[in-house]
Amino acid sequence: MSRWLVTGAAGMLGRDLTALLAARGEEITALTRADLDITDLAAVAKAVDAAKPDVVVNCAAWTAVDAAEEHEARALAINGHGAANLAAACAAAGALLVHPSTDYVFDGQARSPYPEDAPTAPAGAYGRTKLAGEQAVRAALPGASYIVRTAWLYGAHGKNFVKTMLRLAADGTSPGVVADQHGQPTWTADVAAQVVALIERSAPPGVYHATSSGQTSWFGFAEEIFQHYHASVRAGQDQDQGQDLGGEPERSLASPRPISTADYPTPARRPAYSVLGHDAWPAAGIAPIGDWKEALHRALPGIMATGGTGTGQ
Ligand SMILES: NC(=O)c1ccc[n+]([C@@H]2O[C@H](COP(=O)([O-])OP(=O)(O)OC[C@H]3O[C@@H](n4cnc5c(N)ncnc54)[C@H](OP(=O)(O)O)[C@@H]3O)[C@@H](O)[C@H]2O)c1
Repeated sequence: MSRWLVTGAAGMLGRDLTALLAARGEEITALTRADLDITDLAAVAKAVDAAKPDVVVNCAAWTAVDAAEEHEARALAINGHGAANLAAACAAAGALLVHPSTDYVFDGQARSPYPEDAPTAPAGAYGRTKLAGEQAVRAALPGASYIVRTAWLYGAHGKNFVKTMLRLAADGTSPGVVADQHGQPTWTADVAAQVVALIERSAPPGVYHATSSGQTSWFGFAEEIFQHYHASVRAGQDQDQGQDLGGEPERSLASPRPISTADYPTPARRPAYSVLGHDAWPAAGIAPIGDWKEALHRALPGIMATGGTGTGQ
């Protein structure tokens, strides 16, 4: 049992992490942005002093990738300076700091999974600000911090790709989805479990990649979500009518269409290849997150039950 302090507790990861900690009966101080703005050094010091945590998990972040291009200083204030504030407070309090980061610290040009110690070279503003946070945390807490890089996150809370695709499937829309960017769709509940495992097992401080195993494209990810959605609808119809209707013919159902990055321009350049290696987990005696498809099928019922089709971006 540890005393935990979670910042950004109302975010997508923050909510799943606090739920997991609560379910385990851990002692938690969960602070939303309204409770604690991590850019306020004095407030951060006061909050850490009051909570006396063994572990701080910084789920607070500027995550608007495109907006960061135009507002890099504001993103840096949170992702860089905010992380530094927490690291300083943890150093003063003797607390461990778990700091989630991102695949965007890499250049996205690789052809094989990025190991934890691969050279960083962010291609955009968001990645630069997250790298600044990583560096600040490691500098202040070299032996007492965990950099937990994740990617392609989805979950029951907040806007994300899964919810968007569920909404489009429900609307009968067939979206164009980028097929030439590759990565690892990752469920926030799985990241939360990895964070808990790091602390529970007293893993060596350092860099860990908390992404699902395997890889796909955004298009492949979308296809899997649409298929699950249509199968759930068919199962519901069969149950309602007490007979096997055989479902609608597949061709009449909405489904994603593959498009290229060039067809979907965004202010921030997206990495073509965001697959992260997982060697640090077994070295710490912890299993990496399993296959992305298996995780998606574990996650989807809960996301759909919480109204996932209605609130996506
Ligand atoms: N989402 C992804 O696909 C993805 C991919 C790779 C890595 N990550 C990383 O994973 C972590 C969790 O991401 P997420 O998707 O859970 O993010 P999220 O849903 O955007 O949550 C971030 C939370 O931080 C809060 N916040 C923003 N500025 C703050 C401040 N100055 N002080 C305190 N809280 C503040 C936000 O509050 P408001 O909403 O009120 O602003 C929000 O509740 C982040 O470190 C992110 O960089 C995410």
